[in-house]
Amino acid sequence: MDRFAGPARLMIVSDLDHTMVDHHDPENLSLLRFNALWESNYRHDSLLVFSTGRSPTLYKELWKEKPLLTPDITIMSVGTEITYGERMVSDSGWEKFLDEKWNRDIVVEESSKFPQLSLQLLELLTLVQSETEQRPHKVSFYVQKEKAEVLMKSLKEILTNRGLDVKIIYSGGIDLDILPQGGGKGQALAYLLKKFKEDGKLPLNTLACGDSGNDAELFSIPEVHGVMVNNAQEELLKWHAENAKDNPKIIHASGKCASGIIEAIGHFGLGPNISPRDVENLSTCKLDNFNPGHELVLFYLLYERWHREEVEQSATTIEIMKKITSHNGVLIHPSGVERPLHECIDAFSACYGDKKGRQFRVWLDRVSSTQIHPDAWLVKFDKWEKSDEGRRCCLTTVVLKTKADTPEGLMLVHVHQTWMDGFAAKKNWFF
Ligand code: GLC
Ligand code: MG
Repeated sequence: MDRFAGPARLMIVSDLDHTMVDHHDPENLSLLRFNALWESNYRHDSLLVFSTGRSPTLYKELWKEKPLLTPDITIMSVGTEITYGERMVSDSGWEKFLDEKWNRDIVVEESSKFPQLSLQLLELLTLVQSETEQRPHKVSFYVQKEKAEVLMKSLKEILTNRGLDVKIIYSGGIDLDILPQGGGKGQALAYLLKKFKEDGKLPLNTLACGDSGNDAELFSIPEVHGVMVNNAQEELLKWHAENAKDNPKIIHASGKCASGIIEAIGHFGLGPNISPRDVENLSTCKLDNFNPGHELVLFYLLYERWHREEVEQSATTIEIMKKITSHNGVLIHPSGVERPLHECIDAFSACYGDKKGRQFRVWLDRVSSTQIHPDAWLVKFDKWEKSDEGRRCCLTTVVLKTKADTPEGLMLVHVHQTWMDGFAAKKNWFF
């Protein structure tokens, strides 16, 4: 939460399934477009918040499957669990607050009397038996669309009569969640905004993004902009028509999933909205403000395109790469071996098109830069590479120097790489 001293320029609070993540696109193109935009233009001064119905277990599963970035804050289990940072430190204050007029046992006892409700014990996609979605402040069921509305009314009445104050939410035309009244994605967001305000760090703008019933609450927080992605579910569109139709701060995007989010950034004028992935000639992709992270996103995009055979195979590209790399620069390989950077570029030059047709993608995560000298920057990031063989992560540290006669005004002088053994290694490494 405290990555920078002042308020965030933009805070994006986004749902994952069918909002940030398009499950119908095995190539994850819109998500990769968003990632490149975020890391190149926003990571250094803005906050990314994922707000999902998933429990921590299923959230981590999704993270392994899809090219998701590391968020600053993670809101899980339909706004009943909040964690901070990549170490995912829980907000225990929030969980305590949710105990108010909540008794899980009573919820389970009363709901078991309804045969229409089936407890979420099977993962719908894999049909594996699992209790992961039952959480301390969330009891979740599957129920058919036609039966949902009536059932929600009577269940709410019964639980109120038993002294509880609950919130019942229907999502995706199938999921029914029972939570404490104080919980939910919107309440969790309101709680965060209040905390930021108390610290004098209220984000300058907040954009909420969603597609289904449990996201409706996000759009009822007064100060936020909202985007319902194009593929939004019937129940969310219905909520919007009944409750927020005249609110100009909420749009129904024409883009699906993460493309809808990028569209909303442009619509509301919240900042740059052209992803470097949408730019054919990367040398035209300039920033108003100097940001070394931006140059690295472009560098690795060129690297991806070279391997995929999506740029022309020209000596100029290699010349440019050499021009922005110091003669004396070295790359330190994970084995400890040092190689001159220019030698690495020659090796790279020979790899033209070697990943063609192999679903090769590269994305950067957690890009951060520090000025270490009046004309030198230390940039750290996770470089992810995916191909049809799987994906791997490379912790990378780069030293850049300013140099007037290079196209970007920057020159690579040092690269240090550590390849991690996939997600598990990265996340279990504590020091
Ligand atoms: C996610 C959760 C599920 C919940 C649904 C809707 O799919 O895994 O438990 O019911 O979101 O909120
Ligand atoms: Mg969703």
